[in-house]
Amino acid sequence: MMNKIKLNAENLLEIKDALSRLYKHKNSTFSKLFLLEGETELEKNIALPLLKANLIKPGSGSNFISNVRIWKSKKKFIITDLFTCARKDRVYPIFADESDFLVNNLIVDKNDEVLDVCTGSGIQAICCAEKSGKVIAVDVNKRALSFAGFNTKLNNLEGQIELIHSDLFAKIPKKKFDLIVSNPPFIPVPNEKNWFLHGSAGYDGLKIVKRILKESKKYLKPKGKLQIITHSFGAAKKIQVLNLVKKHFPKSRIQLVHLMNPKKIKAKKYLTRFSGSANFGSWKKFLKKNNLNYMYRVLINIFPAKKFSLEEVQNKKFRFTMNESFNQKPFKVRPYYSGGWKEMIQRYGDVSLFLGGE
Ligand SMILES: C[S@@+](CC[C@H](N)C(=O)[O-])C[C@H]1O[C@@H](n2cnc3c(N)ncnc32)[C@H](O)[C@@H]1O
Repeated sequence: MMNKIKLNAENLLEIKDALSRLYKHKNSTFSKLFLLEGETELEKNIALPLLKANLIKPGSGSNFISNVRIWKSKKKFIITDLFTCARKDRVYPIFADESDFLVNNLIVDKNDEVLDVCTGSGIQAICCAEKSGKVIAVDVNKRALSFAGFNTKLNNLEGQIELIHSDLFAKIPKKKFDLIVSNPPFIPVPNEKNWFLHGSAGYDGLKIVKRILKESKKYLKPKGKLQIITHSFGAAKKIQVLNLVKKHFPKSRIQLVHLMNPKKIKAKKYLTRFSGSANFGSWKKFLKKNNLNYMYRVLINIFPAKKFSLEEVQNKKFRFTMNESFNQKPFKVRPYYSGGWKEMIQRYGDVSLFLGGE
């Protein structure tokens, strides 16, 4: 069963070689197997090391099927759980408009000491380590840490990343960092029990973000920067998470990168996918009472400064809006491909279907 897989990192060179050859010469087979989660035939010399590592398993006839999702990012292979994996502790699959977006916008410098809070598969830690050299990465999910460990070895960065099992900052050594980076859980949910650990973030979705903003100050060097990607409710021009940023970083220069067109995002659309959930009624009342009518998706870059300033930027790469994403009926579990925006919509389906409903 895919849920019980234990990744075997004994033959890393052969695994990397097999993945590279597959990606280079048979890109569509790579995508079919590792992104679409479909069955496919494989040459023996590619299949064998991947089988040994438990990345794939035999499918029907002479076909193979993947146990994991594999994302190719900047010459790196990052292994996560499958999109269709129903475990509550699923290792967060990578999406172009989130984890990979953050990777492409990292403000990491050579020799920076970096802390990656909520590392998941380790994608940001790995991309930072390549540039900076020293990274500490934490996650509360042991399964995520084991995948991050595998990915660290697969990308030849074993000695450079220290992985720590920790509830946010609880187990981080007393030291200060040049950069703290985080893609934390930020999904506002009416009922946390029935949601993935990687997303579940309380009624307003900011339960974890609040703690990171509050605690990270203690871990930043005087010139240290913080990058955090999140969803946030808000009313027009009053983004909830910005109030928190102002509160905890009153002297800072903020870059707010909107990942979606903020004018078109109505929180109402967001709510529909949770209808039928326990606490749905009281959750809706909470949002109404607090005027949380809009949903924003933002990357927040925080730089130290003499006084507070805010610069808002609209990202042009992803053209879809939250309306388009959420105006969908719940869908059944099906293969997923991170290509264009249409496919991305699928990621926002009713995940409680995966977890068996409430
Ligand atoms: C949205 S995923 C992001 C993973 C990865 N950084 C990425 O961008 O793909 C959030 C991660 O936060 C972890 N997490 C949730 N609560 C946490 C906590 N209290 N302390 C540390 N990590 C936590 C989850 O296990 C998950 O791996």
